Formats: sequence, structure tokens, C-alpha cells
Amino acid sequence: MVRMAVIGCGYWGPNLIRNITKVKDCRLVAIADQKPERLESVKHLNSEMKPTTVTSEVIESDSIDAVVIATPISTHFELAKACLQHGKHVFIEKPITTTSAQCRELIRIAQQQRRVLMVDHTFIYSGAVRKLREIIDSGELGDIYYYDSVRLNLGLFQPDVNVLWDLAPHDFSLLTHLLDRKPTRVTASGSSPVSWNGWQRESIAYVNMELDGGAIAHFHLNWLSPVKLRRTLIGGSRKMVIYDHLDTENQIKIFDKGVELRQDQDRYKVLVQYRMGDLVCPKVEQTEPLEVACRHFVHCIQTGEQPITDGNAGLRVVQLLEAAERSMRREGRTPEVWTPNNKAVSARV
Ligand SMILES: NC(=O)c1ccc[n+]([C@@H]2O[C@H](COP(=O)([O-])OP(=O)(O)OC[C@H]3O[C@@H](n4cnc5c(N)ncnc54)[C@H](O)[C@@H]3O)[C@@H](O)[C@H]2O)c1
Repeated sequence: MVRMAVIGCGYWGPNLIRNITKVKDCRLVAIADQKPERLESVKHLNSEMKPTTVTSEVIESDSIDAVVIATPISTHFELAKACLQHGKHVFIEKPITTTSAQCRELIRIAQQQRRVLMVDHTFIYSGAVRKLREIIDSGELGDIYYYDSVRLNLGLFQPDVNVLWDLAPHDFSLLTHLLDRKPTRVTASGSSPVSWNGWQRESIAYVNMELDGGAIAHFHLNWLSPVKLRRTLIGGSRKMVIYDHLDTENQIKIFDKGVELRQDQDRYKVLVQYRMGDLVCPKVEQTEPLEVACRHFVHCIQTGEQPITDGNAGLRVVQLLEAAERSMRREGRTPEVWTPNNKAVSARV
């Protein structure tokens, strides 16, 4: 029986508490939050949990084997490091840390202490993403041409990060999990039309990536959209697939559509032929992804298996976030671009 604790009972913590409570071979024995009112608001979810506002009580307890960390991103590293150093297995919210150096340090300590380090890249554990991976691995899409992702809504403004660090971990973890292609170049631009907590941080970001083997990827992340969209489109030489997380009836649609280019008899002409084949909506398992992730964490503790979303998966995501952030800070600029009326405008990379 794995004895578990959750640190952080704000917006996401209660979802973790609810799902951990469903996992067999696991008892949720403690919860910690600096705010007593947050502890009060979740106590009905599990009568066994002992609440505390003193986080170190959880970290140092001998009667806790594993800790789930759902606190703001800027606190992840110190909390996870302390938990690992006290011999706890750690399941930590996305993104794992705020720098890749911190992430490498956590991976090193987890290896040294022989403890499980797992990051909550929640969507990886969804039935839809498992199906997507099957489709891509089978080669059904052909050569991958592009990966296009949109994640927008009127967002929950995070206290310590911009929209990139809040939303892109979902999409960067999906990209690195689904496609066996190394990103070779990352460029990004962002916009900060509103300020909160006295900070002017990006609430809209566009990220472009070039991938090994020629495919390109684009990510649209936005906290200022009137509609909620969670869509990923992957196009290949044979078929194209769309993953719409919010379309619960048909989360995955495979289109047998594409273009074929043929040289005409007259060799100066190229004919474009469109292929309009079937649309297939495969069956997708609907278990809540967070429950599957929590079960996987307990399974890895019991068996010593490496989690699917281990420290290295977390590191790949943080490296992409760092690259996009560097680009957004305009560390590279393209030369000036001339408009037709010879007025200079600046294009940034
Ligand atoms: N996987 C997902 O889909 C998903 C969704 C939302 C948020 N998250 C992640 O969950 C984490 C938390 O986000 P949130 O929106 O719940 O934040 P939040 O601000 O609503 O909640 C954080 C809670 O942590 C508490 N806290 C802060 N420092 C603490 C400490 N040292 N010890 C004990 N308690 C402490 C705060 O009092 C607060 O109640 C973030 O990493 C975020 O990226 C993940």
C-alpha cells in the first residue's frame, strides 16, 4: 500500500485528490497547503487525509511514501528536491521546473535515491492520445508534413508565469510523445496586452518549430480567446488526423484526404489531384486521463518501472519552453524588412 500526500490544494490539487482516492493499492493520508481555507474546501473529498499548513511535516514524515506536488510552477524545484532528498517518490505538475538545469538536478537526485520522478503531462494518459500514437506508429498517415496545435480560452491567469509556460507544456509534451522527430529550430512571438499582479506578461503566444526530417509545427496559445479550443491537426502524405479534445463524441477523426502531383503529357504542366476518401472516427477510451496517470504513478512505485512521463520527458518540454522564451525575448532579430513603399518595419524571430 503506497501512502501518499498532496501538496497544493488550489485549482488543480482537488482533481488530483479526487483521482488518487480512486486508485487501489494507495491511501491518501495527508494534504498540505499554506492556506487553511484551501484545506477546508477539499476535506470532503477523502476522510482519511490529515490536513496541514506546514509543508515540511509532509516532506519529513516517515509515514508517507510518495508526494504529489500541485503548487505554482516557481515552487516546484525546491519542493520536489526536498521530497526526493527525504526518500519520497514524486509526482509533479507540469512544467516540471522553471529551468532545464533544475530538471537535470531532480533527475540526478531521483536516480541517486532510487525514487520515481514523474511529471503530470496529463493528456499523454488520455485514450485519444493513446489512439493517436497508435495511428502515427502504424504509418497510416505516411510521411508527417505538419503538426498544428491550438489551445485557447479565456484563461486562468497564473500568478508566476506567462501563457507559454502555462499552456505550451501540454502541447510540447504531446508533440515529443507523438512524433519521433527532434525539434531543430524554435521561434516564437508573444503579446502582453494586459497586466496582472503588477506584471506585464505574455497572454498570447505563437510558436513555430522545424523538426528533423523536414516537418514543421505551429502552436497557438492564448488566454484571451472568447471561445475554448483544444485542437491538434497532424498532416501526412497519405492521411490527416484531427484530435479535438472537446469533441467528446469524436475526439479523433482520420481523413483520407490529400494531394497528388502528376506531370502532364505536356511536361511543362503539373496536375494537382485531390484525393477525397473516407472519414473515420475510431473508438476512443474515455477513462479520465488524470486517473490513468495516478494509477501509472502507483504502478511505477510498486514495480520500479520508469514512468512514461519521467524526468526526461519533463526535461524535453522545459528545453522547448526555454528555447521559445529566448526567441520571444528577441534574442535574435532578422534584418529589417522593406515594405513596398520603402518604409522599414522590423521583423523578429
Ligand atoms: N495538468 C493540468 O492539466 C493542470 C491544470 C491546471 C494546473 N496545473 C498545474 O498545477 C499547478 C498548480 O496550479 P493551480 O492552478 O492549481 O495553482 P493555484 O494557485 O490555484 O494553487 C496552488 C496552491 O498551492 C498552495 N501553495 C503554494 N506554495 C505552497 C507551499 N510551499 N506549500 C504548500 N502549499 C503551497 C497555494 O496556497 C495554492 O492553494 C501548476 O504547476 C499548474 O501548471 C496543471
